[in-house]
Amino acid sequence: MQLSDKKATLSFSDDSASVEFPVYQGTIGPDVIDIRKLYGQTGMFTYDPGFLATASCESAITYIDGDKGQLLYRGYPIEQLAENCDFMDVSYLILNGELPDANQKQDFDSLVTHHTMVHEQLQLFMRGFRRDAHPMAVLTGLVGALSAFYHDSTDITNARHREISAIRLIAKMPTLVAMAYKYNQGQPYIYPRNDLSYTGNFLRMMFATPCEDYQVNEVVERALDRIFILHADHEQNASTSTVRLCGSSGTNPFAAIASGVACLWGPAHGGANEACLQMLEQLQAEGGVAKVGEFMEKVKDKSSGVRLMGFGHRVYKNYDPRAKLMQATCKEVLTALGLENDPLFKLAMELERIALEDPYFVDRKLYPNVDFYSGIVQRAIGIPTSLFTAIFALARTVGWIAQWDEMLSDPEYKIGRPRQLYTGAAVRDIKR
Ligand code: CMC
Repeated sequence: MQLSDKKATLSFSDDSASVEFPVYQGTIGPDVIDIRKLYGQTGMFTYDPGFLATASCESAITYIDGDKGQLLYRGYPIEQLAENCDFMDVSYLILNGELPDANQKQDFDSLVTHHTMVHEQLQLFMRGFRRDAHPMAVLTGLVGALSAFYHDSTDITNARHREISAIRLIAKMPTLVAMAYKYNQGQPYIYPRNDLSYTGNFLRMMFATPCEDYQVNEVVERALDRIFILHADHEQNASTSTVRLCGSSGTNPFAAIASGVACLWGPAHGGANEACLQMLEQLQAEGGVAKVGEFMEKVKDKSSGVRLMGFGHRVYKNYDPRAKLMQATCKEVLTALGLENDPLFKLAMELERIALEDPYFVDRKLYPNVDFYSGIVQRAIGIPTSLFTAIFALARTVGWIAQWDEMLSDPEYKIGRPRQLYTGAAVRDIKR
């Protein structure tokens, strides 16, 4: 970051002396006021619940311009990456800062492919879960358990260990998600196969059985790969901030990523795709397109507690660029699978049309986010609703681990330790 010529001055309405703070500039985006010395100079903290105005770190990985609806990974627009790259290119880019050349790509593909198997004993660990457990509950446990299986890569001060654990996590996540699915179905696990692509291999581990192999459909493979690309990283969102905060204590990478999985589960974050599809299915069951008007009235009535899932975003105050790409993918997949007249897709289009014209949504700058269409695509592919957030976690793992590594490589890194405005009882004595 670069020091700006500008300085910020904080003055008070009483006689306290004003204080000056340095201002730093990034490459693009808002400048930041460096308040690290605020407490030392004034004895005060800043108050910013939900971190609406706080840059918690310096990062060179992902940039979002919420007003423009722009998303960049390492400077490249998401639209160009979705058109020209596959998820392995994007993972390499996010981890290393540059897109791979042909040799680097081949080596990276091979490295990831050769780490897709998981320790056989993880199958025994799985057996402790109830078969009807939510896949995110299983995944949180499995990812945390990796630290018990791969302790030869948990020295966070060793760059080589960090690199191996990153590759292990990216490579094993599809295997773990597919295992969670197979366990729930009561089907045998399908081992990874090294002659398939990252995404093709995941599809096969999900849908093949020992009695019948699975032929990877190219349109489906490309669509799922695109879902992975679109979810790979998203700046300092709740789960990424959780990974950073958890990792800042010096804990091992598997434990830090497990904390990200747990955070992602919530319906305001990664769980929104599952909630969005459930909303569409319920609305369809209650009458579909004919009931959209009534449903929208409920959404606008704050006392109903109903939100239009898949709409709105903390940062995007414009159309989420990922939602546009996902809408196109959705059409492509439905056509390829002969599901053009899918009623849920039609319902989603109608909800979107009405919301984009309604002053409630227009005034609040509420637009569709990535989850609005990704659930329909996944449902068409045959992925059960309860697995949607696990797919998101699979894709976001590369972003989490890159952000974690960036934090540990930052010479200014410190354990995260927010302060508070205390409003509880003042000191008092026990009287008995
Ligand atoms: N439906 C109806 N009203 C909404 C919605 C919605 N989906 N989202 C926001 N609002 C209203 C909200 O009630 C508030 O109104 P008012 O100003 O009158 O009180 C205003 O819009 C601002 O909302 P907010 O909750 O203060 O905004 P936020 O930035 O804190 O929340 C959000 C962002 C994503 C949590 C929220 O928009 C939401 O709950 N959306 C639905 C869940 C969803 O789709 N989440 C996925 C996010 S994208 C995936 C990811 O990156 O994780």
